[in-house]
Amino acid sequence: MTHPTSTEIYFNLNNGTRIPAIGLGTASPKDRYPETKEAVKAAIRAGYRHIDTAYFYKTEPYIGQALKELFESAEIKREELFITTKVWPTFWNNPSDSIDQSLKDLGIDYVDLVLQHWPVCFQKVENSQGNIIGLPRDKDGNALFEKDADWLFTYKALEKIYLDPKDNRVRAIGVSNYPIEYLERLFKECKVTPAINQVEVHPHLPQLELNKFCHDHAILLTAYSPLGSDGAPNLKIKSVQDLAKKYKVEPADILTSYHISKGNVVLPRSLNPKRIAANVSFAKLTDDDLSKLDQVGIDEPNRFIDEFFTSEIPGFTGTK
Ligand SMILES: NC(=O)c1ccc[n+]([C@@H]2O[C@H](COP(=O)([O-])OP(=O)(O)OC[C@H]3O[C@@H](n4cnc5c(N)ncnc54)[C@H](OP(=O)(O)O)[C@@H]3O)[C@@H](O)[C@H]2O)c1
Repeated sequence: MTHPTSTEIYFNLNNGTRIPAIGLGTASPKDRYPETKEAVKAAIRAGYRHIDTAYFYKTEPYIGQALKELFESAEIKREELFITTKVWPTFWNNPSDSIDQSLKDLGIDYVDLVLQHWPVCFQKVENSQGNIIGLPRDKDGNALFEKDADWLFTYKALEKIYLDPKDNRVRAIGVSNYPIEYLERLFKECKVTPAINQVEVHPHLPQLELNKFCHDHAILLTAYSPLGSDGAPNLKIKSVQDLAKKYKVEPADILTSYHISKGNVVLPRSLNPKRIAANVSFAKLTDDDLSKLDQVGIDEPNRFIDEFFTSEIPGFTGTK
Protein backbone atom coordinates (compact mmCIF):
# COMPACT_ATOMS: atom_id res chain seq x y z
CA MET A 1 0.00 0.00 0.00
CA THR A 2 1.41 3.42 -0.89
CA HIS A 3 0.70 6.48 1.20
CA PRO A 4 1.05 10.18 0.52
CA THR A 5 3.32 11.87 3.03
CA SER A 6 2.07 14.25 5.69
CA THR A 7 4.51 16.86 4.39
CA GLU A 8 2.48 17.18 1.16
CA ILE A 9 -0.69 18.20 3.04
CA TYR A 10 -1.56 21.86 3.79
CA PHE A 11 -4.51 23.52 5.56
CA ASN A 12 -5.94 27.02 5.08
CA LEU A 13 -5.68 29.59 7.85
CA ASN A 14 -8.38 32.21 8.42
CA ASN A 15 -5.99 35.00 7.26
CA GLY A 16 -5.83 33.54 3.74
CA THR A 17 -2.44 31.83 4.11
CA ARG A 18 -1.65 28.09 4.26
CA ILE A 19 0.03 26.02 6.93
CA PRO A 20 1.74 22.64 6.40
CA ALA A 21 -0.19 19.92 8.28
CA ILE A 22 2.94 18.55 9.97
CA GLY A 23 5.58 20.63 11.73
CA LEU A 24 8.75 19.67 13.56
CA GLY A 25 8.49 20.20 17.34
CA THR A 26 11.63 21.75 18.82
CA ALA A 27 11.10 21.69 22.61
CA SER A 28 14.31 19.63 22.88
CA PRO A 29 15.46 18.23 26.25
CA LYS A 30 17.62 20.66 28.26
CA ASP A 31 20.89 18.76 27.78
CA ARG A 32 20.38 18.40 24.00
CA TYR A 33 19.52 21.92 22.74
CA PRO A 34 22.42 22.09 20.19
CA GLU A 35 21.20 18.88 18.48
CA THR A 36 18.15 20.83 17.34
CA LYS A 37 20.31 22.28 14.55
CA GLU A 38 20.84 18.91 12.84
CA ALA A 39 17.22 17.91 13.56
CA VAL A 40 15.97 20.94 11.63
CA LYS A 41 18.28 20.17 8.70
CA ALA A 42 17.15 16.52 8.71
CA ALA A 43 13.51 17.63 8.78
CA ILE A 44 13.86 20.02 5.83
CA ARG A 45 15.69 17.31 3.86
CA ALA A 46 12.85 14.89 4.69
CA GLY A 47 10.30 17.35 3.25
CA TYR A 48 9.09 19.21 6.37
CA ARG A 49 8.31 22.85 5.62
CA HIS A 50 7.01 23.82 9.07
CA ILE A 51 9.06 24.40 12.24
CA ASP A 52 7.35 25.00 15.58
CA THR A 53 9.44 26.80 18.16
CA ALA A 54 9.26 29.29 21.06
CA TYR A 55 11.43 31.79 22.91
CA PHE A 56 11.06 29.52 25.96
CA TYR A 57 12.55 26.41 24.29
CA LYS A 58 16.03 28.00 24.11
CA THR A 59 16.54 26.20 20.80
CA GLU A 60 15.90 29.19 18.53
CA PRO A 61 19.63 30.04 18.17
CA TYR A 62 20.31 26.46 16.93
CA ILE A 63 17.35 26.58 14.55
CA GLY A 64 18.80 29.88 13.31
CA GLN A 65 22.15 28.18 12.59
CA ALA A 66 20.39 25.42 10.62
CA LEU A 67 18.35 27.92 8.62
CA LYS A 68 21.43 30.01 7.81
CA GLU A 69 23.23 26.95 6.38
CA LEU A 70 20.15 25.76 4.48
CA PHE A 71 19.57 29.23 2.97
CA GLU A 72 23.26 29.66 2.09
CA SER A 73 23.40 26.28 0.35
CA ALA A 74 20.15 27.17 -1.47
CA GLU A 75 18.51 23.94 -0.23
CA ILE A 76 15.46 25.93 0.78
CA LYS A 77 14.16 29.51 0.56
CA ARG A 78 12.67 31.41 3.48
CA GLU A 79 9.34 31.79 1.68
CA GLU A 80 8.99 27.99 1.36
CA LEU A 81 8.96 27.61 5.15
CA PHE A 82 6.31 28.15 7.81
CA ILE A 83 7.90 29.17 11.12
CA THR A 84 5.95 29.59 14.35
CA THR A 85 7.25 31.14 17.54
CA LYS A 86 5.57 31.93 20.87
CA VAL A 87 5.55 34.66 23.50
CA TRP A 88 6.35 33.41 27.02
CA PRO A 89 4.22 34.81 29.93
CA THR A 90 7.20 36.79 31.22
CA PHE A 91 6.70 39.02 28.17
CA TRP A 92 2.95 39.26 28.82
CA ASN A 93 2.90 43.08 28.57
CA ASN A 94 5.56 43.41 25.86
CA PRO A 95 5.31 40.65 23.25
CA SER A 96 7.09 42.94 20.79
CA ASP A 97 10.40 42.37 22.64
CA SER A 98 9.83 38.62 22.63
CA ILE A 99 9.22 38.65 18.87
CA ASP A 100 12.38 40.73 18.30
CA GLN A 101 14.49 38.31 20.34
CA SER A 102 13.07 35.28 18.50
CA LEU A 103 13.64 36.87 15.08
CA LYS A 104 17.23 37.72 16.05
CA ASP A 105 17.95 34.19 17.29
CA LEU A 106 16.27 32.58 14.28
CA GLY A 107 18.08 34.95 11.88
CA ILE A 108 14.91 35.83 9.96
CA ASP A 109 12.90 39.03 9.56
CA TYR A 110 9.36 37.67 9.95
CA VAL A 111 7.54 34.68 11.43
CA ASP A 112 4.57 33.06 9.74
CA LEU A 113 2.76 32.77 13.07
CA VAL A 114 3.24 34.03 16.61
CA LEU A 115 1.26 32.55 19.48
CA GLN A 116 0.64 33.63 23.05
CA HIS A 117 2.28 30.59 24.68
CA TRP A 118 0.08 30.36 27.82
CA PRO A 119 -2.77 32.61 29.04
CA VAL A 120 -1.01 33.55 32.32
CA CYS A 121 1.23 36.48 33.33
CA PHE A 122 4.56 36.19 35.17
CA GLN A 123 6.43 38.82 37.17
CA LYS A 124 9.71 40.27 35.96
CA VAL A 125 12.07 43.03 37.10
CA GLU A 126 12.96 45.59 34.44
CA ASN A 127 15.59 48.34 34.38
CA SER A 128 14.78 51.93 33.37
CA GLN A 129 15.24 51.00 29.68
CA GLY A 130 12.57 48.31 30.01
CA ASN A 131 15.05 45.39 29.71
CA ILE A 132 14.30 42.34 31.84
CA ILE A 133 16.99 42.04 34.52
CA GLY A 134 15.39 39.57 36.89
CA LEU A 135 12.72 36.89 37.16
CA PRO A 136 11.31 36.55 40.69
CA ARG A 137 10.83 32.91 41.70
CA ASP A 138 9.26 31.02 44.60
CA LYS A 139 11.19 28.55 46.80
CA ASP A 140 10.65 25.77 44.21
CA GLY A 141 12.17 27.91 41.45
CA ASN A 142 8.85 28.60 39.74
CA ALA A 143 8.10 32.01 38.22
CA LEU A 144 5.71 34.18 40.24
CA PHE A 145 2.38 35.34 38.84
CA GLU A 146 1.92 39.04 38.13
CA LYS A 147 -1.00 39.90 40.39
CA ASP A 148 -3.91 41.78 38.80
CA ALA A 149 -2.43 41.35 35.28
CA ASP A 150 -4.83 40.35 32.52
CA TRP A 151 -3.92 37.31 30.41
CA LEU A 152 -5.83 38.81 27.44
CA PHE A 153 -3.49 41.84 27.40
CA THR A 154 -0.91 39.79 25.47
CA TYR A 155 -3.27 38.85 22.64
CA LYS A 156 -4.51 42.45 22.42
CA ALA A 157 -0.87 43.58 22.06
CA LEU A 158 -0.25 40.93 19.37
CA GLU A 159 -3.35 42.17 17.58
CA LYS A 160 -1.92 45.71 17.45
CA ILE A 161 1.34 44.39 15.97
CA TYR A 162 -0.55 42.29 13.41
CA LEU A 163 -2.85 45.14 12.38
CA ASP A 164 -0.09 47.76 12.10
CA PRO A 165 0.55 48.12 8.33
CA LYS A 166 4.11 49.32 9.01
CA ASP A 167 4.97 46.25 11.12
CA ASN A 168 5.89 43.25 8.95
CA ARG A 169 7.25 40.94 11.64
CA VAL A 170 4.26 38.55 11.90
CA ARG A 171 2.06 37.05 9.17
CA ALA A 172 -0.54 35.56 11.53
CA ILE A 173 -1.36 35.56 15.25
CA GLY A 174 -2.87 32.93 17.47
CA VAL A 175 -3.08 31.45 20.93
CA SER A 176 -1.98 28.35 22.76
CA ASN A 177 -3.49 26.53 25.72
CA TYR A 178 -6.74 28.52 25.54
CA PRO A 179 -9.85 26.72 26.83
CA ILE A 180 -13.28 27.47 25.29
CA GLU A 181 -14.27 30.06 27.90
CA TYR A 182 -11.08 32.05 27.27
CA LEU A 183 -11.76 32.01 23.52
CA GLU A 184 -15.31 33.23 24.23
CA ARG A 185 -13.95 36.22 26.14
CA LEU A 186 -11.38 36.88 23.40
CA PHE A 187 -14.19 37.01 20.81
CA LYS A 188 -16.05 39.62 22.88
CA GLU A 189 -13.03 41.91 23.34
CA CYS A 190 -10.80 41.43 20.27
CA LYS A 191 -11.14 42.02 16.53
CA VAL A 192 -8.83 39.37 15.08
CA THR A 193 -9.86 35.71 15.30
CA PRO A 194 -6.79 33.67 16.27
CA ALA A 195 -5.51 31.67 13.28
CA ILE A 196 -4.53 28.78 15.55
CA ASN A 197 -5.15 27.41 19.04
CA GLN A 198 -2.21 25.11 19.86
CA VAL A 199 -3.07 22.64 22.62
CA GLU A 200 -2.21 19.17 23.88
CA VAL A 201 -4.24 16.65 21.87
CA HIS A 202 -3.77 12.90 21.33
CA PRO A 203 -5.87 9.76 21.87
CA HIS A 204 -5.57 10.05 25.68
CA LEU A 205 -6.73 13.71 25.47
CA PRO A 206 -8.98 14.01 22.40
CA GLN A 207 -10.31 17.50 23.34
CA LEU A 208 -13.54 16.84 21.41
CA GLU A 209 -15.46 19.92 22.61
CA LEU A 210 -12.55 22.29 22.05
CA ASN A 211 -11.92 20.74 18.63
CA LYS A 212 -15.55 21.36 17.59
CA PHE A 213 -15.54 24.90 19.01
CA CYS A 214 -12.37 25.81 17.11
CA HIS A 215 -13.64 24.31 13.83
CA ASP A 216 -16.98 26.15 14.24
CA HIS A 217 -15.14 29.46 14.78
CA ALA A 218 -12.55 29.24 11.94
CA ILE A 219 -9.66 28.58 14.33
CA LEU A 220 -7.37 25.76 13.25
CA LEU A 221 -6.41 23.40 16.08
CA THR A 222 -2.76 22.40 16.33
CA ALA A 223 -1.93 19.30 18.36
CA TYR A 224 1.16 19.34 20.55
CA SER A 225 2.71 16.36 22.34
CA PRO A 226 1.09 13.91 19.85
CA LEU A 227 3.33 11.07 21.02
CA GLY A 228 2.70 11.85 24.70
CA SER A 229 5.94 13.88 25.04
CA ASP A 230 9.18 12.43 26.49
CA GLY A 231 9.51 8.69 25.90
CA ALA A 232 6.54 8.69 23.48
CA PRO A 233 4.14 6.72 25.77
CA ASN A 234 1.24 6.97 23.26
CA LEU A 235 3.06 4.50 20.98
CA LYS A 236 1.95 1.75 23.40
CA ILE A 237 -1.80 2.37 22.96
CA LYS A 238 -3.32 -0.89 21.65
CA SER A 239 -5.69 0.68 19.12
CA VAL A 240 -2.76 2.76 17.76
CA GLN A 241 -0.75 -0.43 17.25
CA ASP A 242 -3.74 -2.23 15.67
CA LEU A 243 -4.28 0.62 13.20
CA ALA A 244 -0.55 0.69 12.37
CA LYS A 245 -0.83 -2.97 11.33
CA LYS A 246 -4.03 -2.31 9.38
CA TYR A 247 -2.48 0.56 7.37
CA LYS A 248 1.09 -0.90 7.27
CA VAL A 249 2.65 2.20 8.84
CA GLU A 250 4.44 2.81 12.15
CA PRO A 251 2.45 3.59 15.33
CA ALA A 252 3.95 7.12 15.33
CA ASP A 253 2.35 7.66 11.91
CA ILE A 254 -1.06 6.72 13.30
CA LEU A 255 -0.55 9.30 16.07
CA THR A 256 0.12 12.04 13.50
CA SER A 257 -2.49 10.82 10.99
CA TYR A 258 -5.10 10.97 13.80
CA HIS A 259 -4.87 14.79 13.72
CA ILE A 260 -4.34 15.33 10.01
CA SER A 261 -7.33 13.08 9.20
CA LYS A 262 -9.44 15.40 11.41
CA GLY A 263 -8.15 18.47 9.55
CA ASN A 264 -5.80 19.51 12.37
CA VAL A 265 -2.09 20.37 12.40
CA VAL A 266 0.33 18.12 14.30
CA LEU A 267 3.81 18.73 15.75
CA PRO A 268 5.87 15.59 16.45
CA ARG A 269 9.31 16.23 17.97
CA SER A 270 12.39 14.07 17.43
CA LEU A 271 16.15 14.61 17.48
CA ASN A 272 16.69 11.35 15.62
CA PRO A 273 17.04 11.93 11.83
CA LYS A 274 15.70 8.46 10.97
CA ARG A 275 12.58 9.01 13.09
CA ILE A 276 12.14 12.53 11.75
CA ALA A 277 12.08 11.09 8.21
CA ALA A 278 9.88 8.13 9.19
CA ASN A 279 7.28 10.22 11.03
CA VAL A 280 5.83 11.59 7.78
CA SER A 281 3.93 8.53 6.48
CA PHE A 282 0.24 9.38 6.32
CA ALA A 283 -2.73 7.03 6.64
CA LYS A 284 -6.15 8.56 5.93
CA LEU A 285 -8.13 7.25 8.91
CA THR A 286 -11.86 6.53 8.67
CA ASP A 287 -14.47 7.98 11.03
CA ASP A 288 -14.61 4.57 12.69
CA ASP A 289 -10.81 4.54 13.25
CA LEU A 290 -10.97 8.09 14.67
CA SER A 291 -13.80 7.15 17.05
CA LYS A 292 -11.76 4.20 18.34
CA LEU A 293 -8.83 6.52 19.05
CA ASP A 294 -11.08 9.16 20.68
CA GLN A 295 -12.48 6.42 22.90
CA VAL A 296 -9.02 5.88 24.45
CA GLY A 297 -9.22 9.31 26.08
CA ILE A 298 -12.86 8.93 27.08
CA ASP A 299 -11.96 5.68 28.89
CA GLU A 300 -8.49 6.66 30.15
CA PRO A 301 -7.98 10.44 30.06
CA ASN A 302 -4.39 11.56 30.51
CA ARG A 303 -2.62 14.90 30.15
CA PHE A 304 1.18 14.72 29.86
CA ILE A 305 2.07 18.44 29.96
CA ASP A 306 1.27 19.64 33.46
CA GLU A 307 3.18 22.79 34.41
CA PHE A 308 3.01 24.37 37.86
CA PHE A 309 0.75 27.13 36.53
CA THR A 310 -1.81 25.13 34.51
CA SER A 311 -4.21 24.83 37.45
CA GLU A 312 -4.63 28.63 37.14
CA ILE A 313 -6.43 28.19 33.82
CA PRO A 314 -10.12 27.37 34.37
CA GLY A 315 -11.32 24.38 32.42
CA PHE A 316 -7.76 23.41 31.56
CA THR A 317 -8.14 20.04 33.22
CA GLY A 318 -11.01 19.14 30.88
CA THR A 319 -10.06 15.89 29.19
CA LYS A 320 -12.69 15.41 26.51
N1 LIG B 1 2.26 25.27 23.07
C1 LIG B 1 2.70 24.56 24.09
O1 LIG B 1 2.47 24.89 25.27
C2 LIG B 1 3.47 23.30 23.80
C3 LIG B 1 3.68 22.38 24.84
C4 LIG B 1 4.36 21.21 24.53
C5 LIG B 1 4.84 20.98 23.23
N2 LIG B 1 4.66 21.92 22.26
C6 LIG B 1 5.19 21.72 20.86
O2 LIG B 1 4.84 20.41 20.41
C7 LIG B 1 6.02 19.68 20.09
C8 LIG B 1 5.84 18.18 20.33
O3 LIG B 1 5.49 17.87 21.67
P1 LIG B 1 6.54 17.24 22.71
O4 LIG B 1 7.87 17.84 22.46
O5 LIG B 1 5.94 17.39 24.07
O6 LIG B 1 6.62 15.72 22.40
P2 LIG B 1 6.13 14.58 21.37
O7 LIG B 1 6.35 15.01 19.97
O8 LIG B 1 4.78 14.11 21.78
O9 LIG B 1 7.14 13.41 21.74
C9 LIG B 1 8.53 13.56 21.68
C10 LIG B 1 9.17 12.24 22.10
O10 LIG B 1 8.84 11.22 21.15
C11 LIG B 1 10.03 10.57 20.71
N3 LIG B 1 9.78 10.10 19.34
C12 LIG B 1 9.52 10.87 18.24
N4 LIG B 1 9.29 10.08 17.16
C13 LIG B 1 9.39 8.80 17.59
C14 LIG B 1 9.26 7.53 16.94
N5 LIG B 1 8.96 7.44 15.64
N6 LIG B 1 9.43 6.41 17.69
C15 LIG B 1 9.75 6.50 19.02
N7 LIG B 1 9.87 7.67 19.68
C16 LIG B 1 9.71 8.81 18.98
C17 LIG B 1 11.12 11.59 20.86
O11 LIG B 1 12.38 11.00 21.07
P3 LIG B 1 13.62 11.11 20.03
O12 LIG B 1 14.04 12.55 19.98
O13 LIG B 1 14.66 10.22 20.64
O14 LIG B 1 13.12 10.59 18.70
C18 LIG B 1 10.69 12.33 22.14
O15 LIG B 1 11.11 11.61 23.30
C19 LIG B 1 7.08 20.35 20.98
O16 LIG B 1 8.39 19.98 20.64
C20 LIG B 1 6.72 21.80 20.80
O17 LIG B 1 7.17 22.27 19.54
C21 LIG B 1 3.95 23.07 22.52
